[in-house]
Amino acid sequence: MRTQVGIVGAGPAGLLLSHLLWLEGIESVVLEARGREYIEQRVRAGVLEQGTAELLERAGVGERMRRQGMVHHGIELRFGRRRHRVPLTDLTGKSLTIYGQQEVVKDLIRARLDAGGQILFEVDDVRPEAVEGDRPLVRFRYGGGEQELHCDVVAGCDGFHGVCRDAVPAAARSVYQHDYPYAWLGVLAQVAPSSDEIVYASSERGFALHSMRSPQLTRLYLQVEPDEPLERWPDERIWEELQARLGTDDGWTLGEGPILEKGVTAMRSFVVEPMRFGRLLLAGDAAHIVPPTGAKGMNLAVADVRLLAEALAAWYKTGDTGPLDAWSATCLRRVWRVQDFSTWMTTMLHRAPGDDDFQRKLQRARLEYVAGSEAAARSLAENYVGLERV
Ligand code: FAD
Ligand code: PHB
Repeated sequence: MRTQVGIVGAGPAGLLLSHLLWLEGIESVVLEARGREYIEQRVRAGVLEQGTAELLERAGVGERMRRQGMVHHGIELRFGRRRHRVPLTDLTGKSLTIYGQQEVVKDLIRARLDAGGQILFEVDDVRPEAVEGDRPLVRFRYGGGEQELHCDVVAGCDGFHGVCRDAVPAAARSVYQHDYPYAWLGVLAQVAPSSDEIVYASSERGFALHSMRSPQLTRLYLQVEPDEPLERWPDERIWEELQARLGTDDGWTLGEGPILEKGVTAMRSFVVEPMRFGRLLLAGDAAHIVPPTGAKGMNLAVADVRLLAEALAAWYKTGDTGPLDAWSATCLRRVWRVQDFSTWMTTMLHRAPGDDDFQRKLQRARLEYVAGSEAAARSLAENYVGLERV
């Protein structure tokens, strides 16, 4: 097989890249390890920055998002059993859209297949090769047979656990990593959201988050131990803990309902530099992970591939390699800004096992500052809705 851009991974990064390239008249083939049904059901992120939502609209894949997405103008910080609203739109002029990542994935798969795009699901043993030269290829197994995809460049969009990053020799990459001493237990519950906006709660018992997916579906998270076994969290315990951590003194109540899905997500920061090695370009989670407290993972993946599609278009149309040569450094500026914001949100809101009273007092002072100072709230807000330029 031969194409222009060989894309490994059909997450938001790989699928959107394929779609944006098609809009530029550039061919691609997407290779995905899992089945279509699996990736369309996988519950993950849900917050789209305004820039992300606008890009999906401009690219012609925003029709369902416009109808079903929930546009929000603020978030709530909760601590000391009190509520503090951060009015994002008043502070920045921008809003955010809540729309599940798997819905974005469904919309992109449909758009690619409708346009005759090629996505090969359930491929096995994917190996990017010869990426240092100008004739790279991807070997893989598909339908029982060995296959080769020859291309001009390989886009490694295969997430944190993918194989593309390892195709870069260890001597040619630097890795920056931080693991947090907690994880998130996420649940999807069949009950109307109890708040109109996302709630980030810092409590004596740890962090909790109230979000949503639709007028009938609530998405909730609890800070738990790293590698927490799910068996330790029967539904009753989850609700009890959410009630305790989200509870306020002003009579707010959390509605409960059947839990449809639950899972534990590790919390880590990770960046590989550079994001390009020869003809291999690592985008999205394959190159970087941020802790989810800033709601940034998918938005960063989208920012990477928007720039990558533009850079590849410039190269194919005019032979100009400038944007492609600058791509990794341009992306990494945003990655580190977002890494800092996500870490700041995370450490402000979670309770770390070793924290002493001094740390707790500092944490409270930070929260009070954001709740009480417009300048501090604006800084949170502009990062949360997404910076246009970094
Ligand atoms: P992915 O979505 O991971 O897509 C990579 C794709 O590559 C997958 O479909 C995978 O099956 C495929 N793949 C992997 N290996 C191979 C291979 N060898 N060959 C072929 N295909 C391969 N962010 C938030 O902001 N909020 C959240 O609540 C949140 N929750 C998360 C929960 C989990 C369990 C995870 C893993 C991530 C979560 N994130 C969250 C992060 C966010 O979902 C990611 O940042 C986003 O998915 C990045 O998109 P991506 O396309 O780069 O990677
Ligand atoms: C979500 O709705 O899944 C969500 C919201 C905010 C976050 C992370 C996840 O910070």
